[in-house]
Amino acid sequence: MSAPVSSPLLSTHGLCARYGDFQALFGIDFEIASGEVVALIGANGAGKSTLLRSLVGLLPVAQAMVRFDGQAVGGSAPHQMLQRGLALVPEGRRLFTGMTVADNLQVAIDHARAMDAHGTARPWTLDRLFDLFPILLQKRRTPVELLSGGQQQMVAIGRALLGQPRLLLCDELSLGLAPLVIREIYAALPSIAAAGTAIVLVEQDVALACRASHRLYCMLEGRITLTGRSADMARDDIARAYFGASHAVA
Ligand SMILES: Nc1ncnc2c1ncn2[C@@H]1O[C@H](COP(=O)(O)OP(=O)(O)OP(=O)(O)O)[C@@H](O)[C@H]1O
Ligand SMILES: [Mg+2]
Repeated sequence: MSAPVSSPLLSTHGLCARYGDFQALFGIDFEIASGEVVALIGANGAGKSTLLRSLVGLLPVAQAMVRFDGQAVGGSAPHQMLQRGLALVPEGRRLFTGMTVADNLQVAIDHARAMDAHGTARPWTLDRLFDLFPILLQKRRTPVELLSGGQQQMVAIGRALLGQPRLLLCDELSLGLAPLVIREIYAALPSIAAAGTAIVLVEQDVALACRASHRLYCMLEGRITLTGRSADMARDDIARAYFGASHAVA
């Protein structure tokens, strides 16, 4: 187990979540500090997306189960979580089709301005985003549906960043993308974290998750089965946490 984060930006405390009668999460204790990159791995159906949804207010949870910046905020509405600085890059990107790259990004800028997201700090600008992903500058007049999957993912990340998040939650950034594009997108993460934005990465590729993160949590059937510093993780421990105790490690 890794040492607890000294002053977490976000923490969960025995977080449970359900879809109607079906309980999907059981007593999740999770934390992340400012500027940290934390990976969340686990097999299909382990509860990774459900945990992200619970954090951003898309699933009801008790107030005390989520603390953000020292306050109990569980159960807040999605727009309140966004205003506090939690942004989700959802699986499947969900861009505004029929609109250009520039228009998609402008929606995020206008929205952040309207909410006056957490005071006046606005580290993310269009220029800074175009430095991070230069292809978006070239493609700014292109309707998003004509972009490649990787370029669409960059727009989705950019849209989230222009909301000036303090915590960026990314659900399967690499899904369906070619290795070269995945590398390009993951190469941008250290500079996002260095700017002070914490990042939670849900990632199916365990090796990539380990390389890209400071710490890692593994989930199985709605529970955390392993956590620690990514660099210290043993392959066998990850395999057991990922597949369950009965799994024989080859
Ligand atoms: N809308 C829903 N209604 C009912 N059950 C759901 C719903 N969404 C997810 N579940 C169930 O909750 C559990 C956790 O699902 P979740 O999508 O969080 O897993 P995941 O770890 O993100 O999986 P994947 O790697 O396939 O994306 C699964 O058993 C899933 O079937
Ligand atoms: Mg998922």
